[in-house]
Amino acid sequence: MSAPVAAEGAAPPPLPDIAARLACDPALAAQASAIHAAAFNGEVPGRAWSAAEIAGFAAVPGALALLDADALLLGRVAGPEAELVTLATRPEARRRGLGRALTARFAELVAAAGVQEAFLEVAQTNAPARALYSALGWVAVGRRRDYYRDVNGNRIDAVAMRLRPGRHEVQASGDRTS
Ligand SMILES: CC(C)(COP(=O)(O)OP(=O)(O)OC[C@H]1O[C@@H](n2cnc3c(N)ncnc32)[C@H](O)[C@@H]1OP(=O)(O)O)[C@@H](O)C(=O)NCCC(=O)NCCS
Repeated sequence: MSAPVAAEGAAPPPLPDIAARLACDPALAAQASAIHAAAFNGEVPGRAWSAAEIAGFAAVPGALALLDADALLLGRVAGPEAELVTLATRPEARRRGLGRALTARFAELVAAAGVQEAFLEVAQTNAPARALYSALGWVAVGRRRDYYRDVNGNRIDAVAMRLRPGRHEVQASGDRTS
């Protein structure tokens, strides 16, 4: 009997966590690194990660990695908490929903792992990323002074954001992290 054929227009399967593969497949780590380097090209604070750094990160227990042809997300889970460590979409593939899809998938996976709270840090000046995270329910919960430097060496604050997977949170009106 032949395998069932997916209905035309059927949704693609959800992206799997490939941290274990990234940790031991140098070609895959190189692909991930190329995406990261294309995204962290000096326009936003943050440094491109080498393939070795990505493989090393992915090898640590709790690491989580989502890889699309044009986008990458790295995170980690530690008990009831998770961290979205980095997110990158190639410049030519932006505004097509890839960053949103990977971030939403991250939230699904950490929720399934029993995570209560997820955190990330994003440069205060990184409006696209902040808009993306806010649209997906992440709320600003704090600030780290002078956490990043831009290409000119200027210090830039980081905004700490939190997601409580599966719960709807509203940004506190008195928040001063914008
Ligand atoms: C931030 C980043 C990952 C977004 O990736 P993306 O694949 O373009 O994001 P999406 O297409 O899924 O956008 C989802 C939503 O985010 C917001 N957004 C994304 N880019 C935006 C921009 N340039 N300006 C304003 N809002 C933006 C919008 O709300 C957008 O929804 P819409 O397109 O329906 O309006 C990408 O711009 C990137 O790689 N930037 C450099 C690296 C970086 O900043 N990483 C995050 C910090 S760790």
